[in-house]
Formats: sequence, C-alpha cells, structure tokens
Amino acid sequence: MSKTDWIEQELASLKEQGLFANIRTIEGPMGGWVSIEGRRVLNFCANNYLGLANHPHLREATKSAIDQMGIGPGAVRTIAGTTSLHVELEKRLADFKGVEAAITFQSGFTANLATIPALVGKADVIFSDELNHASIIDGSRLSGAKIVRYPHCDPGGLRKIIDQTEVTGRALIITDGVFSMDGDIAPLPEIYQVAEETGHLLMVDDAHGEGVLGRGGRGIVDHFHLHGKVDIEVGTLSKAFGVVGGMVAGSQVIVDWLRQRGRPFLFSSAMTAPDIAACLAAVDLLEAGTEQVDRLWQNAETFKLGMKKLGFDTGMTQTPIVPVMLGEAPLAQQFSRRLFEEGVFAMAIGYPTVPKGKARIRVMNTAAHTPDDLEHGLAAFEKVGKELEVIS
Ligand SMILES: Cc1ncc(COP(=O)(O)O)c(C=O)c1O
Repeated sequence: MSKTDWIEQELASLKEQGLFANIRTIEGPMGGWVSIEGRRVLNFCANNYLGLANHPHLREATKSAIDQMGIGPGAVRTIAGTTSLHVELEKRLADFKGVEAAITFQSGFTANLATIPALVGKADVIFSDELNHASIIDGSRLSGAKIVRYPHCDPGGLRKIIDQTEVTGRALIITDGVFSMDGDIAPLPEIYQVAEETGHLLMVDDAHGEGVLGRGGRGIVDHFHLHGKVDIEVGTLSKAFGVVGGMVAGSQVIVDWLRQRGRPFLFSSAMTAPDIAACLAAVDLLEAGTEQVDRLWQNAETFKLGMKKLGFDTGMTQTPIVPVMLGEAPLAQQFSRRLFEEGVFAMAIGYPTVPKGKARIRVMNTAAHTPDDLEHGLAAFEKVGKELEVIS
C-alpha cells in the first residue's frame, strides 16, 4: 500500500462515473475558433465574452507596456510599491463602474478570498445564495463566519432565514450577479431591499456580468440602476475583459480597508504589467462604444432561439450562458465528445460543479462568433442531439 493509493482509487472512480475532467490543449490564440489536436474547432467554452482575449488593441498595449514597464511586479505591492499602471487601471475601473474606488487582485477567485474575510469574522454571519460560486464559498469558509445558505435567487427566502438567524456581530449578504452554470441573473433590487431593511452589508460577485450586463458592459449594478446601493462589487478581468485578474469596486473606505486587510493583496504579488496594460486597453474599448457588447447579446439571442426551436432544454438562462441540460454526466460527456468530432468544442459539466443528475453542456456565446459560426454550432447540436435521442 503506498501513501497515494487512495488518490489513484479516487481518480479511477471519477473516470468510472464520467466525472474526470479531461483538459484540452489549445494550440493558438483564444477566439471564436481554436486549434486543438491540429484541428480548427468552433469554441463554445470560453468566457471570452467580448472576443478581447486576442484583440489587436490589447496585444499592442501589452507589447508597449513590456517595453516601458517590464513584466513582473517584483513583490507584493505593500512591500515593493505599485506601478503607475496599476494605479491608473484602478482609477479607470472606478470611473467605468461609477464608484468611488476600485482595487485589483490576481484573479476573481482571490478577490473573493481577500474581500470576505476582511469584512466578516468568527462573530459574524454570511447569508449566501445556495448556488454561489466556489470562490465565494471558500472565501466565506476562510472568514470563519457562520455561513447560512438561502434558497437560490429567492429574496423572500433570504428575508425569512435572516429573521430566523441570531446576528450578534456583523452580517454580509452575498450573491453571484450572473450564475455561471445556469445563466440566470440575481434579483438584486429585491436583495438590496432586504439588505437595506436589515442593515446588513451587501456584496455581489459580478464575474459573469462584468462587460456583459448594464450600459456598455458596466455590470449588474448598472443594469438594475443600483448605483451607490450595493456595498461591494467583486468582478473579474479574466472573462469579458479578456485578460486575467480580479477587482473590487465600491466605496473609498472599503477599498482602503482591502488594501490594509485583504490577505491576497498583502501576501501575494500583483498582476503583471502586461496584464494591467491589456486591461487598460479593454477599458478603452468598452468606453469607446457598445459594438462588442451588442454583438454578444445578438449572438446569444440567435443561439438560444435556435436551440429552443430544435427542442433542447436550455434551463433558466437570461444571459449569453446557455446550459444544455442533459441529466446524467456520462451522457453529457458523450455528447461533448461527439460535438468535438463534429468540429465543436463545448465542454460537459458535471458534479461537483453542478448538482448530481444536472449534468449539461454549457455553451458560452461570445462576440467573436459570426452568424455562420452559430449556424455551424446549431447544426452540430441538431445532429448529435438526434443521434443520442436527446431531441427528436
Ligand atoms: C462568480 C465567479 N466568481 C469568481 C470567479 C473566478 O474568476 P477568475 O477566473 O478571475 O479567478 C468565477 C469564474 O468562474 C465566477 O464565475
């Protein structure tokens, strides 16, 4: 018996259940189409909502930033200082979002790990939507606060649970803005009402709404006209912005506090200069017009309509995220493999990312797709769906 036998058994069991994540190697830039195993395939997997991951403006900005600023940050910002690029990006993000201040992190995941434990601790309570993202769950656990889950997107249920819970310290309500596996949007105005009535802090993680919802992609707070009402907006620069990184937008006092107490800010090096320059270029594009955001939504509507006409169950989506509900994980994996043979890269998603029995193919629409691409994708879904008797 070796010390790692149990891992081998666990891995074998994942394979048996169809839950083993096979990671494809992409042999070129991220885009509407990608190269995998020497073949060009239609890419329905990436969160590259606005097609910025390989945009010429971002590429140029990155190259000139490297010439002027080099690459690595050298150490954490509180020790080795911060670059003028980082300061500029945080200012531009705050202006773009219409908030007092913003702070960047290495990723959206670390933004949650930084923010939640900085705001609540052992004496406090977190009210968390039951389908919140793993990084919210992990950040909440790290804080040591009592975690109380409320029914998904149910402000009435949230209110009831708050009324039944003793809060002696602080309380923080947290919801995803757009739920990444189902594509539904949190009812933020109603959740805000509950936060307002109870006096609890309100935090939204808008990873999938940033660059997607609101005027020109300004996010969920803008979408619902809730400016100044949501205490903390967490976001990512790794999806619509096409780069990598995370951010928190909100009041000056909260951002000042995160610079002092956000542990991934204090104990992990910052984003690199090329990352920051690319994000600045993404903000330029978002501020210059709504062309990419409009194309994203047009594509999403076309695809969703096409899938509904074909008879697929696309769940409760309200956004460019389209879950194609298939039920059991092995069927979802088989469906994904067949789609790949038909030239479409669309991953199966199963437990633990989604509940058991709710496996699906998740299609991410982007502005990088053309109408012909969507036709191609729909034709592949039709062919495989009929073959596997998911549709008739
Ligand atoms: C709601 C939510 N928060 C945070 C993240 C993590 O973002 P990042 O990839 O920038 O770490 C994701 C990514 O899937 C997400 O969906």
